[in-house]
Amino acid sequence: MKIFVIICAAGTGERFSNNIIPKQFLHLNNKSILEHSIDKFLSSDIIDHIIIASNPDHNTYLNPIRKRYIDNNKIEIISGGKTRIESVFNSLRHIEKSKPDLVFVHDAARPNFNIKLIKELVKAINGFDCAVPVSRINDTIKKINHSTINTIDRSDLFTTQTPQIFKFQMLIEAHKKLQLTEIIENVTDDAQIMELFKKKINTYINTSDNFKITTEDDYNLLSKILSYDMAKNRVGIGFDVHKFDTGESIRIFGINIPYNKSLKGHSDADVGLHSITDAIYGSLGFEDIGYYFNPNDKKWKNTDSKVFLDHALEKLKKANARIINLDIIVICEEPKINPYRIEIKDKLADLMDINSSQISIKGTTTEELGFTGRKEGIAVQTIVNIFSYE
Ligand code: CTP
Ligand code: MG
Repeated sequence: MKIFVIICAAGTGERFSNNIIPKQFLHLNNKSILEHSIDKFLSSDIIDHIIIASNPDHNTYLNPIRKRYIDNNKIEIISGGKTRIESVFNSLRHIEKSKPDLVFVHDAARPNFNIKLIKELVKAINGFDCAVPVSRINDTIKKINHSTINTIDRSDLFTTQTPQIFKFQMLIEAHKKLQLTEIIENVTDDAQIMELFKKKINTYINTSDNFKITTEDDYNLLSKILSYDMAKNRVGIGFDVHKFDTGESIRIFGINIPYNKSLKGHSDADVGLHSITDAIYGSLGFEDIGYYFNPNDKKWKNTDSKVFLDHALEKLKKANARIINLDIIVICEEPKINPYRIEIKDKLADLMDINSSQISIKGTTTEELGFTGRKEGIAVQTIVNIFSYE
């Protein structure tokens, strides 16, 4: 069975108050509203072809989208029309020769539909000419006319959504007939055309979160819903040990603490920054510090460990994530870390561009047990909590 999709994206968004950029090109979670719909249909294995009805005046916004899908031969961007119905009709005629069995018609301005709706509608059209997702109205509905207000019985009232699915031949014929009528001016969706020509319509009760973005309020609401949906809390753990060497101070968390020894290592041996770096890699599901900075590579000899931390922070940024808090424990008998807690927190806050209140530094001994108890070295353990939008 051949299934095509028409995405109506040629509108100018007149009801969207701040419509400098047409609403379908506004971004939500790093991609345009139009791309949200395209990607959902692309992710379905039952869709053969996607036509996007667009407005040539919107080329500035369309070009990056064209570029993104350039290698995808399922996608075609064509010119829509002055009205939504005209955009759909142009698209139907464009694909007429390909003779699809079924066609979905969808509003680009409705990006929040659930992918499972695609298959549900294919099931729902079975035995019908079209299937339409609808949602119950839960608010009390008033009809207001000048000074008279009347409550309308809402028990059989529904709002209509897209995508709507049609038998292709049925829809194009209905559109052709519609061209010859006066009613065309008042038609706002394709299911309405099927009603006019007394076709068999099935409805699918859907959730109300598949709302259309008409005003800025709708856009703000959806951006809240999506950021909540996409937000993920993750944690990472880091642990590092360096042994003492002769010297006069140790380098830890980017500061120098006077001591009668130093720390030994290939880089600057900053056991604190190494532990934090590894915790960040871990929170993102990445490899460890040795994977990115091979300790046998001469290149990293005496390197400031800030380089490693910056690398992990860059990865964090690319993953669209940010640090919520870090809990760090320094395990050693000596030197005492407590007197340096504030200095360390301020330094780390600066290195990571976060607030020092997001960082906790605790020192502990191991009651003279083990290598730390014998004052042979220092261990640092870190837990990082991150918040990611991907
Ligand atoms: N649409 C279209 N061609 C048109 C008009 C609208 O393809 N000539 C598309 C819109 O881009 C939108 C969908 O139809 O994705 C639903 O229309 P609507 O929400 O009314 O969008 P706009 O017409 O852009 O907004 P407005 O009516 O506020 O101007
Ligand atoms: Mg409109």
